[in-house]
Amino acid sequence: MSRTAHIIDDALGAVGNTPLVRLDRIAKEEGLECNLLGKVEYMSAGGSVKDRIAKRMVEEAEKEGKLVPGRSVVIEPTSGNTGIGLAMACAIKGYSVIITLPNKMSLEKEAALRALGAEVVRTPTEAAWNSPESHIGVAQRLQREIPGGIILDQYRNINNPLAHEYTTGPEIIEAVTGTASTDSHPSSGKVDVLVAGAGTGGTITGMSRAIKKKHNKECIVVGVDPKGSILAYPDELNTEGAGDPYVVEGIGYDFVPDVLSRDPADVNEWLKTSDEEAFAAVRLLMRHEGLLVGGSSGSALSGALRWLHSERGRAIAQTKGANVVVLLPDGIRNYMSKPWFLKMALEAEPSPLARHIADILKTSKSDVQTNVASLAGGIESRTSAIKKEKRPDAVDEASR
Ligand SMILES: Cc1ncc(COP(=O)(O)O)c(C=O)c1O
Repeated sequence: MSRTAHIIDDALGAVGNTPLVRLDRIAKEEGLECNLLGKVEYMSAGGSVKDRIAKRMVEEAEKEGKLVPGRSVVIEPTSGNTGIGLAMACAIKGYSVIITLPNKMSLEKEAALRALGAEVVRTPTEAAWNSPESHIGVAQRLQREIPGGIILDQYRNINNPLAHEYTTGPEIIEAVTGTASTDSHPSSGKVDVLVAGAGTGGTITGMSRAIKKKHNKECIVVGVDPKGSILAYPDELNTEGAGDPYVVEGIGYDFVPDVLSRDPADVNEWLKTSDEEAFAAVRLLMRHEGLLVGGSSGSALSGALRWLHSERGRAIAQTKGANVVVLLPDGIRNYMSKPWFLKMALEAEPSPLARHIADILKTSKSDVQTNVASLAGGIESRTSAIKKEKRPDAVDEASR
């Protein structure tokens, strides 16, 4: 349904219904004949794919009488985006919210959460998921102590994958089947490949079920898991760099959440990705497609490109009209002060145009560079002061 055709009751009415966008320029540069399509989730009201589960978990809990206005306190351990979706829903509906958030997650996410009225408790990134200090352990402790405290629990709540089975997956199917095949843009009329990262695994599991049950059971679903995480299947894929820290946020875990299906019938193949390739792919999406995506979108795209260049993927890559969909979970709003982004955005080699500007304005090329460097340094010093004060383990990422 078009978003602009009628008045919506509140911001929750603008959750989901995100566009499926052709990534033609990247496809051309990579020598792909297939259609490369990005599902752009930062266009959802709260800025990520996780708005969908937040909305559904809250509304289902209300129907079951588990949430009582004026009494319930929603407590959730998250890497941030589920928290932002919950804080948005709870601001509208009038519930208090407490979010437990590992230190690694960005200051921007904490700021958005607090702006929406949530309380935020930071937890050590390196704490094992089942230790009392982890974001999960702290949330459980708060729930035991706070009257009316309720954890909707995205790691186990069936409404997490269901939100994607009922919304994300069907939207992709509708966009693909509703777009005619033309000479300039041939289409098989179906979703042939779907690539997505996994955190809780709700997104990839739910989308896969929607597509395989109702649309194309032959669709190849490729899961992307960062090096250092243990979600990929089979387990041998996870041995290299096991437990190593990584900077990309929102994907990967040190335990397998209940809502992730590792059944090869649901997720056919897995790939491991590095921070470096993820950030390089973010740059491609920004520079070539004008899409201001976050780090895990780069992970998904880099996984998709690697798969399409692999022996198994090559046949699809060279098939005109084959539709390869990549899920892009959130936007750069969440990461504007992160060193990886500032480096990418501000420390690029001066372009020929920048040199020309320097010539016209009679500044030296090094002045242009110095201006850029001091801007980056200024942002970094302002944000790292806050980070160091509140986040003792932020040093591990300061140089990335
Ligand atoms: C930025 C980002 N990317 C990807 C994901 C993964 O989604 P899921 O938990 O459904 O696997 C998340 C989840 O929080 C996320 O925040």
